[in-house]
Amino acid sequence: MTTFIYLAYLVAAVLFILGIKGLTKPRTAVRGNQLSAMGMFIAVVVTLFDQSILSYEWIIAGVLLGGTIGAVMATKIKVTDMPQMVALLNGFGGGASLAIAAASFLDPAAATNTVALISIGATIIIGSVTLSGSFVAFAKLQELISGNPIKVPGNKPLNVILLISALALAVAIVMDPTNTSLMYALVAVAVVLGVLLVVPIGGADMPVVIALLNSYSGIAAATTGFITGNTVLIVSGSLVGASGIILTQIMCKAMNRSLFNVLFGVMAEGGEKVDADEIYAGKVKSTSPDEIAMMLETAERVVIVPGYGLAMAQAQHAVRELANVLQSRGTDVKYAIHPVAGRMPGHMNVLLAEAEVPYDQLIEMDEINPQFEQTDVAIVIGANDVTNPMAREDKGSPIYGMPILNVDKARTVVVIKRSLSPGFAGLPNPLFAMDNSLMLFGDGKKGIVELTASLKEAD
Ligand code: TAP
Repeated sequence: MTTFIYLAYLVAAVLFILGIKGLTKPRTAVRGNQLSAMGMFIAVVVTLFDQSILSYEWIIAGVLLGGTIGAVMATKIKVTDMPQMVALLNGFGGGASLAIAAASFLDPAAATNTVALISIGATIIIGSVTLSGSFVAFAKLQELISGNPIKVPGNKPLNVILLISALALAVAIVMDPTNTSLMYALVAVAVVLGVLLVVPIGGADMPVVIALLNSYSGIAAATTGFITGNTVLIVSGSLVGASGIILTQIMCKAMNRSLFNVLFGVMAEGGEKVDADEIYAGKVKSTSPDEIAMMLETAERVVIVPGYGLAMAQAQHAVRELANVLQSRGTDVKYAIHPVAGRMPGHMNVLLAEAEVPYDQLIEMDEINPQFEQTDVAIVIGANDVTNPMAREDKGSPIYGMPILNVDKARTVVVIKRSLSPGFAGLPNPLFAMDNSLMLFGDGKKGIVELTASLKEAD
């Protein structure tokens, strides 16, 4: 029986790893998700046989209740509200680990050896921080509390004091496993620490924080695996912990923020104030759908650059329709995907997948950038910061160093947005005033629909 269980755990672990590999590419993401789900199914079923289950009734009731709530939440949630749902789920993950650690500590038969006790201390700290931190992140994104950084006097020294106290209490529970009040004190200290760690962080940095909390929830699951002696929990928790940290790093790099600055609420210095009027005055040229359609008639290569405005305008289906018309005329059409375009990781991939844009037309930033020089027309829809050349050229700019899509290298750039208003970073964009740029002012969806109609008329 034991050999069978270990073999099943091994299969589950391999499925998790293959699943994560699948998730790295849009084309294989659905299969990756299915493989991971299958791995989790095997792990859960085998664990139910492996452990000394006291009552299946409670487990079935929990699965039904939790499963129903999860299914309702997942079907009702809007794509743009996904970050707060992930925050909530991370919080539940941390809470579940915390509950197991606390229950093991309170059960005199369960926690006897030092490894289990150290794991209990670690799980209580990480699980509690994840639980309360994630709920604060959820509340900020759901606008239940202000999304702005909330200043708490003495926040940083207080965090250090709380962390040291938590570590001291964790040591104390290892030394004196019979003292339950130490455990309650540890939970309280770690919960407050989680709140104070996330409260000063602005809503803008929240997706990075959520990726980090996701990583914490994985680490808490892994340490829980040491308490219960469950190998597959250690493996799956470590995978979540590691991939969460990697995602955090990728997002920090793409937003040009260091993890330290995110965690300690340090915003990028303003640099010298940039005067939008000076950049735009007399240089911005506006265009019309008919004029763009004329250009597109002769274009051989077109790159579509989606951004947050595409999501706001819900223009993904209209964009797909435009691409279909262009492709039917023999034009090569690709989509340029910036890692932090929009407001959550994979935002543009999700939107374009909804409109059933073929995955092989979605090209990541590093691959598409060298291709802009051979692009006849780049159509930028509701993207702003991710195309701002200041990030490449202006050392004084707060976004200097953020990798961008080099759309300005295309022969002609058409930017569809409602005004010259800045994007998320609040900065003017010299792209709009460049010689090869044309602005189509208006709602993204309306602009694309009119453009497609003009193109069809020309046929
Ligand atoms: P942004 O720079 O935020 O620009 C979006 C633009 O969309 C705005 O300038 C706005 O201009 C336009 N817009 C809004 N509604 C529109 C509509 N209905 N039709 C057409 N245009 C519309 O977007 P981006 O280029 O995607 O960059 C993302 C930014 O968000 C980056 O700074 C990134 O660091 C930050 N961020 C990203 C994430 C993740 S994980 N993706 C998380 C947090 C922050 P008008 O008002 O003139 O129309």
